[in-house]
Amino acid sequence: MIRRLLPGPGTADGGEELEEAYHHPAPQHLRLNFVASLDGAIEIDGRSGPLGGPADKQAFRAMRAVADVVLVASGTAVRERYGPVILDDPARARRLARQQSARPALAVVSGQGRLDRGARMFTGPDRVLVLTTSQVVSTRTDLGEVADLIDCGDGEVDLRRVVAELRERGLGRILCEGGPFLARGLMRAGLVDELCLTVSPLVAGVGRQTLAEIWVGPPVPLRLEAVLEADGMLLTRYATEER
Ligand SMILES: NC(=O)c1ccc[n+]([C@@H]2O[C@H](COP(=O)([O-])OP(=O)(O)OC[C@H]3O[C@@H](n4cnc5c(N)ncnc54)[C@H](OP(=O)(O)O)[C@@H]3O)[C@@H](O)[C@H]2O)c1
Repeated sequence: MIRRLLPGPGTADGGEELEEAYHHPAPQHLRLNFVASLDGAIEIDGRSGPLGGPADKQAFRAMRAVADVVLVASGTAVRERYGPVILDDPARARRLARQQSARPALAVVSGQGRLDRGARMFTGPDRVLVLTTSQVVSTRTDLGEVADLIDCGDGEVDLRRVVAELRERGLGRILCEGGPFLARGLMRAGLVDELCLTVSPLVAGVGRQTLAEIWVGPPVPLRLEAVLEADGMLLTRYATEER
């Protein structure tokens, strides 16, 4: 059972209740979602799966179900062997009732554009958006056969342009699923509205990539907005301060 601790005690079980908990009223909103151990590890042997549990997976699905687009860096998409975003029928019906498309789009940020066009992520019914540089757009015509290549900068990817390009396509509710390099860029550019952090009741030990990698600079205060709990796992939602 998933218990709601904040705001107000209750439960948040099942897809619909969780989607209500994660639906954000603003049409333009960027949410960053991570799962970490108590000592901040965000991967175990290169994957985030061992850090999560059933409740975290339910919340992950609910966040996808309310997003217009799932944004992910190429590093994570490759390491985590991303596939097309799949939702069950009830979640799709709820999206249509909210005037959203049946599925969120999948958008991958890549500076080098060295994505394998045969990768699983390109096998879905919707074309993946690859947000990259003008150089990649002009040279990777083979990748352009399986994905929409979007020019987001000359020489390097400008993350402000990434967000603007998504918004221009009506993809305002952005769920960023990492990884740490992309998260740091978004944080640095002041583009993150919310950090959803699942704290796993686990100490992972040294030698892991940690959540500390998502920020370089003076401490940034965040405001706690919501906490769910299941099986000793805390699912938190923090808002960044108005900028
Ligand atoms: N615990 C969690 O919730 C969680 C979430 C996500 C990921 N992870 C873990 O994080 C690890 C992957 O991390 P990672 O170090 O590979 O970082 P990453 O942020 O997933 O990927 C980094 C790569 O993505 C591309 N990229 C990202 N931001 C970019 C930008 N602003 N401009 C241009 N290119 C950009 C670049 O690759 P190219 O230019 O070569 O394409 C860059 O080398 C995996 O082990 C994964 O399991 C954990």
